[in-house]
Amino acid sequence: MLEASRQWRVAGRSIGLVPTMGALHAGHMRLVEMARAENDVVVVSIFVNPIQFGPNEDLGRYPRDLKRDDELLAKAGVDAIFVPEVRAMYPPESSTRVHVGGVSEPLEGSARPGHFEGVATVVTKLFAAVEPDRAYFGQKDAQQVAVVRRLALDLDLGVEIRVVPTVREADGLALSSRNVYLGTAEREAATILSKALREGAAAYAAGERDPDRLRVLLLARLGSEPLVEVEYAEVVDPATFRKPGSLAVMAVRIGKTRLIDNHDLALPFLG
Ligand code: PAF
Repeated sequence: MLEASRQWRVAGRSIGLVPTMGALHAGHMRLVEMARAENDVVVVSIFVNPIQFGPNEDLGRYPRDLKRDDELLAKAGVDAIFVPEVRAMYPPESSTRVHVGGVSEPLEGSARPGHFEGVATVVTKLFAAVEPDRAYFGQKDAQQVAVVRRLALDLDLGVEIRVVPTVREADGLALSSRNVYLGTAEREAATILSKALREGAAAYAAGERDPDRLRVLLLARLGSEPLVEVEYAEVVDPATFRKPGSLAVMAVRIGKTRLIDNHDLALPFLG
C-alpha cells in the first residue's frame, strides 16, 4: 500500500483514508463521499481489527461481506481498497501497542478495557501504511473520534482528522454494522436511544444546562424501555469526555447487542 501512496504523493495528489471494519452501510458511504469530495485519491481500508475486541465481544460473529463491500466501493469511485491480513498487521513477534491517556479512560474505555488501545494501534498502523493527508471517522463513535484526534496531535502524525455526522434510519436509529444483530422487538426497542437524545436536546434548548439533571433525564427515558439495559448515559465535553460539556453519550444493551449513540445537545436533534 505504501508504495502506491508514495507514487500518488510524488504526483502531487492528496490522499483521503477511510478506515473501516467492512460490513459497509450508508454511514460509511457518507465518509467515502466526503473523502471523495476533499481528496484526489481515496483509499478505504477494511480490517476487522482483532485487538480492539474484548475476549467476550463479537469478533467471531462480526458481519463480514467483502464482495458486497467491494462492489459498493467500486460504485463510489474509490481508488484503492486496502484489506490487510491479520498476520501481516500483527505478526507473532509484534509487541507494540499505542495507548492514548486521558480521553480513552472513561465510559467506553472502562466498559471495554483495551478497546481504544486496539483502535489507536491499528489507526497508527493504517496511517503509516497509507500516509493519508486526511482520515475520515463517523461521529457515531464520538469517543473514538476524540481518542484519534488526541493520537494524531500527540504523535504529530500529520493527518487531518475529519468527522462526518451520524447517519440515521427514518425512525432515528443510528446506522451501525451491529444493528443486524437485533431481532424485531429489539430493533423497535433500539429507537429509545434517539428518543432520549431528542428529549435531551429539547431540555437543553429549554435552558437546562446541569449535566447531572440532563443525565437523569436521559437515564429515565432509556430506562422506560423494558428490553433495554442501560450501561451509561453522561453529558460530557467532546474532547476530554469529562464533565462539564454538552455532548450526550450513551451505551445500552438490548439482548446480546451493545449499542452506543451520542448527540451534542447544544444542537437541534434532526434524526
Ligand atoms: O470505527 C471503526 O470501524 C474502527 O474502530 C476503526 C476506526 C476502523 C479501527 O479499527
